[in-house]
Amino acid sequence: MQTLHAIIPLRQTIADLRKAAGPDARLALVPTMGALHDGHLALVRAARQQAQIVAVSIFVNPRQFGANEDLDAYPRTLAADAALLEAQGVDVLWAPAVSMMYPHDYATNISVGGVSQGLCGADRPGHFDGVATVVLKLFNQVAPDLAFFGEKDWQQLGVIRRMARDLDLAKPHVDAIYGVPIVREPDGLALSSRNRYLSGDARVTAAALPQFMQEAVRAMAKGDACSEALARLRCRLLERGFDSIDYAELRDERSLLLLDRLQEHARLFVAARIGGTRLIDNLAATVG
Ligand code: PAJ
Repeated sequence: MQTLHAIIPLRQTIADLRKAAGPDARLALVPTMGALHDGHLALVRAARQQAQIVAVSIFVNPRQFGANEDLDAYPRTLAADAALLEAQGVDVLWAPAVSMMYPHDYATNISVGGVSQGLCGADRPGHFDGVATVVLKLFNQVAPDLAFFGEKDWQQLGVIRRMARDLDLAKPHVDAIYGVPIVREPDGLALSSRNRYLSGDARVTAAALPQFMQEAVRAMAKGDACSEALARLRCRLLERGFDSIDYAELRDERSLLLLDRLQEHARLFVAARIGGTRLIDNLAATVG
């Protein structure tokens, strides 16, 4: 694996790898912020299945963190991450510096409307602008044929697909942006780099999030009114020890428009805070 920190050697390395792999070889990019866990590695494995050349980026993107968020505290574990990626057979680790990504006179912002509104877009103003901006930069730097994102961040995946479609991206094309199912701990908690912030008790309580979400979907499938099932979900999470619920909503998984009953393509989205950590999760909410 080659680790690169500057754009000219990155482009040279990619050109060399493409030349060696032949004209039909495909290059996949897996963008991450590091502190890698099995969720990230599932993306790497999915990429490897479809591409001869796999690149992973690690960049803790300041533009997607709000003023009161955890940018400084965000775990940075590049050496351990590099070892994990090497063991997965990754070809290129792209780890640019902040000063390279955003020089002092950097002035461009990508803002995707529609799917970025509501859910995390409402709670974290500017977050998806930061995500879209950095992902477009990463796409332009690496020029991948395919890109892989986790369904854990369902709205993020929607924002990136909308950007790719609206801006007619060629590398990658919107149809080559893949979503990978959520990887969970044995107790159901979705893997997240932020789970390491959870204290022992909070970690145990956190598992109630996916459990109660599943129960809410089951109740709706049995005929309970959605509004009631969602109100009960909020109450139960607070009773169990969550500090607050940012949202608990049923939406169409493609348009992300709000729904008031179960139907095809319905999905339950929740963000909740516990011990200073914000957890998000989502679950298909199909009828029957
Ligand atoms: P990060 O939180 O590091 O996540 C990188 C990728 O891993 C994202 O596509 C995310 O959805 C996926 N992922 C995280 N946990 C997962 C899990 N438990 N199961 C499946 N996939 C999971 O998301 C970002 O970084 C950034 O916003 C980024 C896209 C890199 C832009 O800065």
